[in-house]
Amino acid sequence: MSKTTHAQWSSRFSFILAATGSAVGLGNIWKFPYMVGESGGAAFVLVYLLCIGLIGLPILVTEWMIGRRGQSNPVNAMASVAAKAGQPKVWALVGVAGVIGAFLILSFYSVIGGWSLYYTLGSVTGDFSGQDADGIGALFSGMLASPGLLLLWHSIFMLLVIGIVARGVTKGLEGAVNVLMPALALLLVVLVGYGMTTGHFGEALNYLFNPDWSALNGEVVLAALGHAFFTLSLGMGIMIAYGSYLGEKVDLIKTARTVVIMDTVIALGAGLAIFPIVFANQLDLASGPSLIFVTLPLAFGNMGGGLILGLMFFLLLTFAALTSAISLLEPVVEFVEERTPLSRSASAVVSGIGAWALGIAALLSFNVWSDPVLFGLGVFDLLDKLTSKFMLPLTGLGAILFAGWFLNREGVAEDLGLSGGKEVLWVALTRFVAPIGVAVVFISSL
Ligand code: PHE
Ligand code: NA
Repeated sequence: MSKTTHAQWSSRFSFILAATGSAVGLGNIWKFPYMVGESGGAAFVLVYLLCIGLIGLPILVTEWMIGRRGQSNPVNAMASVAAKAGQPKVWALVGVAGVIGAFLILSFYSVIGGWSLYYTLGSVTGDFSGQDADGIGALFSGMLASPGLLLLWHSIFMLLVIGIVARGVTKGLEGAVNVLMPALALLLVVLVGYGMTTGHFGEALNYLFNPDWSALNGEVVLAALGHAFFTLSLGMGIMIAYGSYLGEKVDLIKTARTVVIMDTVIALGAGLAIFPIVFANQLDLASGPSLIFVTLPLAFGNMGGGLILGLMFFLLLTFAALTSAISLLEPVVEFVEERTPLSRSASAVVSGIGAWALGIAALLSFNVWSDPVLFGLGVFDLLDKLTSKFMLPLTGLGAILFAGWFLNREGVAEDLGLSGGKEVLWVALTRFVAPIGVAVVFISSL
């Protein structure tokens, strides 16, 4: 295989599916519904949509534009786009931070993907059936306490990710999202349909959409801002890598709008699937991270049809995690492939094994290596905090400052097909609104 031709998405639709696959993850299925419920329902949704539109969307478009202009991995793309704009090479550091961030996140993301696989199997074999809260709790803590079990499922998950990415952009990435995304949508529709039969759908609708303006405060706005960033997989080089496989003709703003809408619809759909079950079984809404792995299985284990519903739910979660994980490996693989003599598949194997090895340190921090290694945190939490609090916001900020202030304004307008008032709005967003928004989130999270 020649390494000189750069791959391309086979259609705009495939690109949308892949970008949506990256965006839709745990953030949608667990975090977003939960945040909405806690923070004032429709009032929060409105704030969130503003954040997405004013900050998330401009950064998404910017990352794609840099990737498309550079036609290569995030590091080289930043370097070459900067060079063409007469800017110093140090801008490549934005790409470096993105690739490193993606690598670090993949290492522990795969551990959670492993939990999801384990629970998918567990729902088939009836592990939740008839269990009480203690039994379900013991299942979860037993899993965390077992290095062997965690390692097994982390390894299987990472093998799947490597296998997909190794096959390249069209065969691997597109092949996977073409199957997984429609399956995800179907599973979600069925689960929402089930929610309608519980007699608690109205309660869920009310919880998600009835605005309670009094619940809004500075903290909530900050959370919405931060989530707008995370939910679109920004600041990891992912969207730069995905943009590098784009041709000239795609309208980036229109495409970003589609991806943002799909991401939001799936997040709201997840809420309409989960909350009726939560209400029908009087489960604890505020159970935080354990909602998915402890609280819901309790309901699945004790309701009619729970076996099949539990299976569908954990399949949904696994598919969402898988399409996000392949997007995390992609920028790393693109970098290794283009910067070393290694082939595409060898690059995928080498990068994947690296992240897998780091993931072992992360999973051991749940059991035999639970002592803090740095800042009072174990490896898993350290990787999580380091990436989400520092690397992602700084990388996103770097990309948006670069595009807003250092790229030729007319060139950007032409790239994005903007003119008149829309162009002025774009400049205002990329120079002021988005950078200030990201900076505020970053500083306040410290
Ligand atoms: N965007 C994903 C979500 O909403 C999160 C994610 C983070 C995806 C990192 C890929 C990489 O869940
Ligand atoms: Na998301």
